[in-house]
Amino acid sequence: MREPPDSIDTQIWVRMSPWYKAAQRASHLAHIEKADDPEFKEILLNSLRHFEEFSESIGFVEGWSEVGHNFVEVRWLPHKLRYAYDYRYLTEIFLIIAIDGPAASGKGTLARRLAAHYGLPHLDTGLTYRAVAHALMQVGLPLDNEKLAAEVAASIDLGALDRAVLSTHEIGEAASKVAVMGAVRRALVEAQRKFAASGAGAVLDGRDIGTVVCPDADVKLYVTATPEVRARRRHEEILSGGGVAEYEDILADIKKRDARDMNRADSPLKPAEDAYLIDTSEMDIESAFRATLDHVEDVLSAKQA
Ligand code: C5P
Repeated sequence: MREPPDSIDTQIWVRMSPWYKAAQRASHLAHIEKADDPEFKEILLNSLRHFEEFSESIGFVEGWSEVGHNFVEVRWLPHKLRYAYDYRYLTEIFLIIAIDGPAASGKGTLARRLAAHYGLPHLDTGLTYRAVAHALMQVGLPLDNEKLAAEVAASIDLGALDRAVLSTHEIGEAASKVAVMGAVRRALVEAQRKFAASGAGAVLDGRDIGTVVCPDADVKLYVTATPEVRARRRHEEILSGGGVAEYEDILADIKKRDARDMNRADSPLKPAEDAYLIDTSEMDIESAFRATLDHVEDVLSAKQA
């Protein structure tokens, strides 16, 4: 983006996307209501009034940028038109990014990077299935008792998912066994949907996010790689963590897990019809992230138009 002309100051203006415009006034007022300092509230109300008066007629859009975790429209405005906008109160973007793909495809890393980039909360839904499997394994209960597993699923606290404990290869395998049961999925999907709807957007990754959990997501990605590449990644991950494993065993597990995840009756792993496909077999994480980001930005620009 070019520098502002000398005589004009940079003014950060909230992004006016179509979906944002629709909810703009009500949402501003709702946010302003949350300000507990009456003086600040007054400033915000004045800002809103000026915003409404001037936003259509003054200034011109120079481009898009990021401030903190918000997208903002950047306008260069005459100095006298600067107002005390507080972006935490006055900006809002509701963006859901759904990422699906098989084990070790790179979807988790991409999800975390996108979430950090856009300042959105992130849920690795695989951890929710892993937590159910882990809870059952810990007390020696079978993995195929649907009633029991569904009760555990209904009690999972999304705020207490411990990646360090849950990320082992064995728990992943067990998770894909509990994940075939409809009652388990219903309980977890309900919690996942609540998470997706709870803030100003979210990034969720898993197997059925674009198809079942968030079918209306703004952006859907399907991340994949060959089983051999994924097995190599998983194998290296285990070895670098001090573990012991044979590549051939990991490859066999990956293939078995793919088959279980792709062929189950309830919410099988498959790309949503409108998903953007990314094959990371020949890509490092940086190029995969860049490609993904370009796609998300394209979607956002199209919404903006
Ligand atoms: O992604 P992760 O390897 O942690 O997932 C573990 C297992 O949980 C998957 O193999 C899959 O069977 C199940 N899962 C699912 N639906 C999701 C996320 C994970 O069925 N949305």
